[in-house]
Amino acid sequence: MPFPKDFYWGGATAANQLEGAWDVDGKGASVPDHCTTGSANAPKRVTEIFEEGMVYPSHDAIDHYHHYKEDIALFAQMGFKMYRFSVAWTRIYPTGEENEPNEKGLEFYDRLIDECLKYGIEPMITISHYELPYVLVEKYNGWADRRLIDLFEKFARTLINRWHDKVKYWLTFNEINTATQPMGALVSLGTVKGFTGTINELPDDKPTRYQALHNQLVASAKLVKWAHETYPSIQMGNMICFITYYPYSCRPEDMLLFQNRMREMNWYASDVMVRGEYPAWGKRYWKENGIELQMEEGDLEILKEGTVDFYTLSYYMSSTVSQDANAAQSSGNMAGGVTNPYLPSSDWGWQIDPKGLRFTLNEIYDRYRIPIFITENGLGAYDTLEADHSIHDPYRIDYLRDHIAQMEEAIEDGVDLRGYTPWGCIDLVSASSGQMAKRYGMIYVDKNDDGTGTNARYPKDSFEWYRQVIASNGEKH
Ligand code: BG6
Repeated sequence: MPFPKDFYWGGATAANQLEGAWDVDGKGASVPDHCTTGSANAPKRVTEIFEEGMVYPSHDAIDHYHHYKEDIALFAQMGFKMYRFSVAWTRIYPTGEENEPNEKGLEFYDRLIDECLKYGIEPMITISHYELPYVLVEKYNGWADRRLIDLFEKFARTLINRWHDKVKYWLTFNEINTATQPMGALVSLGTVKGFTGTINELPDDKPTRYQALHNQLVASAKLVKWAHETYPSIQMGNMICFITYYPYSCRPEDMLLFQNRMREMNWYASDVMVRGEYPAWGKRYWKENGIELQMEEGDLEILKEGTVDFYTLSYYMSSTVSQDANAAQSSGNMAGGVTNPYLPSSDWGWQIDPKGLRFTLNEIYDRYRIPIFITENGLGAYDTLEADHSIHDPYRIDYLRDHIAQMEEAIEDGVDLRGYTPWGCIDLVSASSGQMAKRYGMIYVDKNDDGTGTNARYPKDSFEWYRQVIASNGEKH
């Protein structure tokens, strides 16, 4: 049996995408709280003020804030060994700048963590998952300002000081590398002061994004160093949205383009968090892209001293690159690129590539030799709720099964894979489109894009299938 006996099977979510209760018990507004619902063809839109008649899906989401007991019980029924969730920064520090944390916010996570532990589910906490306090956007232009480092340290240390004896696995940032892409300005960096519009309309301001990313990388390393010194029993990670690229042809130009995209998207941030230094090609890259990083004395030492204990990635799709301007452009891949004729696509145009996962895991392990967790993977799809409340989702089962089979191959290849927490184990709000209709869960939630619905939870066919996968430690899939 390839899966180790203590393999962490589970699921993953993020606070702003499921909790709702966006202004309850003292919570402040975050960037996603300022985002509207979009559609399969139109991404969500960020607005400075709450516009009349618009749906802001994070405000209610699936009301996990009031349903967490029921939800954790369902996860336990599936046999989860691990649950990855995030803490809403604005529940703890509503504007990010308070001196004292909001006790009511902390108490919610006390209860959530205890509920997990009650069922023997190991929590994995993402400290910052795409949910910066909106005040920090208005005041500082988000992570473009170095002052965010101290504000983040204050927030993160509050959590670790409180839960270090209950939570062993911590991630500093979700998908920190999205900062290398234009969408990162909105979703992860908050460098959108005064901006109203969709992800597609964001200006491609590389110098600001790379500076903001530097600030985040320093913040992450600083926290990792402090956590290692203060609480040696906990394990620190940071997370990468891994998009594997293929060259469209064997033309040397396509090969170089492929190498550049792999570097920019995946290796740049990964090298800093694992090796503790910027890649050798960084200097040329900065020069050619007009990036002049402002570093302070000690930054490079901190990066070196605060390297992660394990590697976590999300993996949804692969992408293909071509120098040929006439090659068919991929319609939906978040990562851009051209259409790979050998791969099917989801309804949102993400190209499904299980074998790419085996390749990816091997590439990461060859390079870094540290334990790996897949902390997101899954299929966003339209589901139908039948009259008897059943949901038949064979497409989701196929997707997950094919990826698990490739994880198995990777483990046989020698990769030290420790866990698998598929995304949105319960239906929640989509990060890119703001939709409920783009569903990932094994648990259906009766909630619609227009904000209507009862919030009732119903197991899908994939629920029982995943239960069996976990019960057989991956043998039955
Ligand atoms: C990852 C994010 O990029 O992908 C999640 O960490 C997100 O927050 C997930 O929800 C799936 O993307 P989407 O846009 O389909 O919700």
